Amino acid sequence: MCGIVGYVGSRPATAIVIDGLQHLEYRGYDSAGIAVLQDGAIHVRRDAGKLSNLIKLLAQQPIDGHLALGHTRWATHGKPNQQNAHPHSDASGEIVVVQNGIVENYRELRESLQAEGIDFRSETDTEVIVHLLALNYSAAGGLAEAVRKTLGYLKGPSAIVAMTSREPDRLVAARLGNAGGVAIGLGSGETFVASDIPAILEHTRRMIFLEDGQYAVITPAGAQIATLDGQPVAAEIHDIPWNPVSAAKGEYRHFMQKEIFEQARSITDTMRGRVDFDSGEMILEQLRLSRERARSFDRIVTVACGTSAYAGLVGEFLLEHIARIPTDVDYASEFRYRDPIIDERTLLLAITQSGETVDTLAAVEEARNKGAFVVSIVNAIGSQAARISDGVITMRCGPEIGVASTKAFTASVVDQYLLALALAQARDSIGPAHRRRLVDDLAHLPRLMGQVLDQSPAGNAVYLDLAERFHGYRNFLFLGRGINYPIALEGALKLKEISYIHAEGYPAGEMKHGPIALIDREMPVVAIAVQDSVYDKMISQIEQVKARHGIVIAIATEGDDFIASKADHVITVPKAPSLLTPVLSVLPLQRLAYEIAVWRGADVDQPRNLAKSVTVE
Ligand code: G6P
Repeated sequence: MCGIVGYVGSRPATAIVIDGLQHLEYRGYDSAGIAVLQDGAIHVRRDAGKLSNLIKLLAQQPIDGHLALGHTRWATHGKPNQQNAHPHSDASGEIVVVQNGIVENYRELRESLQAEGIDFRSETDTEVIVHLLALNYSAAGGLAEAVRKTLGYLKGPSAIVAMTSREPDRLVAARLGNAGGVAIGLGSGETFVASDIPAILEHTRRMIFLEDGQYAVITPAGAQIATLDGQPVAAEIHDIPWNPVSAAKGEYRHFMQKEIFEQARSITDTMRGRVDFDSGEMILEQLRLSRERARSFDRIVTVACGTSAYAGLVGEFLLEHIARIPTDVDYASEFRYRDPIIDERTLLLAITQSGETVDTLAAVEEARNKGAFVVSIVNAIGSQAARISDGVITMRCGPEIGVASTKAFTASVVDQYLLALALAQARDSIGPAHRRRLVDDLAHLPRLMGQVLDQSPAGNAVYLDLAERFHGYRNFLFLGRGINYPIALEGALKLKEISYIHAEGYPAGEMKHGPIALIDREMPVVAIAVQDSVYDKMISQIEQVKARHGIVIAIATEGDDFIASKADHVITVPKAPSLLTPVLSVLPLQRLAYEIAVWRGADVDQPRNLAKSVTVE
């Protein structure tokens, strides 16, 4: 999970930047680098591995100055080595850039830059940015304009910070989509920039957060913010409390809210270094699964609890469709009591955010004793589930503090997508072209998620209006079908967990076998009706609800005008490949549950009676 730290002021900058990067080490990374302006020229030091390697290098070849930019990289495109580490420089060495995020169209951009004679020195997607900055610099008349222009070429979420020896008094930062935050710390006669607050909190508590589509010119005097289309912004200055836990909450009111909005970034982190977007191959080292063993499985059994179990139900579709292995999902708390049929041809998949849920651990033990190969998908590194499994895929979404799980859900769905691709690769269950298409689809996911996680006033208004209207209802029904059926279950779970409104999730086709009896004017029905193979069937369910005077809130695909004539309220998500639609359609349901709970004055982060990690049976 990449980190950025930058400084401009009058103090020696190297130590400040390195210290800031050390505060971000907990996020994980595999190489690090720093660029410093010294005697009118930019000097770069980079190394693979831990920050201690970079610190040693700096001891041998010291650099210092009053303008510096550092980065810890978690590899996405290209190996974690010295050449691929950030900052990246243009051919003249006069401009450098660091980036968090993914340049989705880097292949096209690299090819057209190479056609103009530009040499590439790394395998990263980021390097295209610095060459574009160099090309635009003169015509744009400065770094800020060059950044603004360059971002116009990039597809996908990016947070970048750039500096140039030609403008020794400034850094320019920009944020496009949701590749993580950009926090600007205001000091006196010095200014800091970082991807995460803890990196700079010891220097200042006065911070500005860049929104999507904004850039900042950062000088010792402060920061000037504007939108990427050139409109100046009067940015709000936040006073961050010293308490590190509240500090981690940053600009958000609750951890759950922060965790909801973090998801485009956490999914980028989940994919980092594991998906080779060039070859279409999966690199899941901790899976520790040989090709022979991968080919030996005749079934997959997934065990999990709560939200993780619903992620498993989405995974059932992914594993069956992509890896073509029959998959069953069981509540971990039920698994042991059925005398399950498990042997060495079974892949037992345990999904657990905490890695400590006692029922899930007991199910893993049971399966191990019967000879299964156990893979766990966990968020907490070093947790018990990770320790007792043969293979592990981590979620990499950072600590999840809100009791109701959000970012761990989407991360574990994406982890299952990666697992399905890795199994398909080992078992040749789908052709290389098909696999390649599925990998390409994944690259667009963070950007699409960022669109659903729009935090602008208009983006929030949809949810605030619905919360105002519906917070007083006592029951909700959630309907979905196909791969979005588990999303109906998860949407209902979120609402009941944090707002204490009774909610049920149902496979839409089952509505007529029972829940339809409940439908009347007092029963809002949330229908996930994105345009996929079961869309027409969802429309007919909506019609059945309307015929009984139910109120329908539809989650629909952008541009679907027809559904507006059927449903009372529509929330849209962008069009996406059908296997990835659940990762998008769950986001509005999280946001809706959150706003309704806030409206009701509930304790969102610590709902009554619930625990984050359930270590008792
Ligand atoms: C508790 C939490 C849920 C979580 C479930 C499973 O019930 O409140 O948010 O989904 O445990 O937890 P795990 O850590 O195993 O994913």
